[in-house]
Amino acid sequence: MDTILKIDSLTKKYPSLFAVSQLSLSIDKGSVFGLLGPNGSGKTTTLGIILGVTSATSGNFSWFGKNNSSSDRKKIGALLETPNFYSYLSAKSNLKISAKIKGVDYKDIDRVAEIVNLKDRLNDKFKTYSLGMKQRLAIAAALLGKPEVLVLDEPTNGLDPQGIAEIRTVIQNISKIGVTIILASHALDEVEKVCSHVCVIKKGKSLIQGNVNDVLVGENLIEVASSEKEKLKELATTFSGFKTLKEENYYLLVTLQDSSSSIEFSKYLITNNIIITHFVKRTKSLEEFFLETTKDA
Ligand SMILES: Nc1ncnc2c1ncn2[C@@H]1O[C@H](COP(=O)(O)OP(=O)(O)O)[C@@H](O)[C@H]1O
Ligand SMILES: [Mg+2]
Repeated sequence: MDTILKIDSLTKKYPSLFAVSQLSLSIDKGSVFGLLGPNGSGKTTTLGIILGVTSATSGNFSWFGKNNSSSDRKKIGALLETPNFYSYLSAKSNLKISAKIKGVDYKDIDRVAEIVNLKDRLNDKFKTYSLGMKQRLAIAAALLGKPEVLVLDEPTNGLDPQGIAEIRTVIQNISKIGVTIILASHALDEVEKVCSHVCVIKKGKSLIQGNVNDVLVGENLIEVASSEKEKLKELATTFSGFKTLKEENYYLLVTLQDSSSSIEFSKYLITNNIIITHFVKRTKSLEEFFLETTKDA
């Protein structure tokens, strides 16, 4: 697996605090990587450092497995804060200005407008755009020139539920075309919905990281195995409290609905006469863990 970004013991010290402290992580090509943490946990500082706008106190990072060069910088699209578009110009004229600054052919405008679902609204003036559309236009501008990586800092902040859902769709579209995405967010559910990988940070420190399915799934997660695998699958999916199922090594990973207990699930399997060789309730609950960290932040 190609590594897009590797961060090693990154630290940023301000006079009164460590905004980032010994942060290490690795981001694989094609992933949607969530940097998840409460306000003030060091997300923006981290993104600022990897984008070269903030200097680190110590530690290293490298993009694309190399020393950071300016030609590699062109492979990174970023949206740290909403850029200033001209309100009296159309979205298209604004994208033309962005394209010109980046040295990108105007032909790329239609491509990026399509990705963010603004193709039909390109001729409308920026000032007529909703907040969600403005944010999508900013994402479009960041996508000009076909970057390999897109860095987004809290892209759904301030948006209504519909606007949030639209951004989510846009992120999924961008991921589908193979762009690696690095997304900072304070919202667990957002990361759960769009990210493949996550690093949870608090006070600049990494608390836990890995595949979202492994890290973010709560305590209703059961590892279960049987030599009668097909029968087990069938039974699991017909259980009243069943939510999701995933095949892992030798066992199935079953998520149950909140109200449904693992004891009921095991009883259900036994009454259906299947021999279970492995039944483990995963106790780690990142949701609880995350809520706790958010509480005292
Ligand atoms: N320029 C600065 N000077 C001093 N402290 C700062 C500065 N920028 C950020 N901080 C502090 O660093 C911590 C991390 O901030 P930030 O990276 O913005 O967190 P997040 O993006 O997760 O909300 C916060 O405590 C913040 O107040
Ligand atoms: Mg921030």
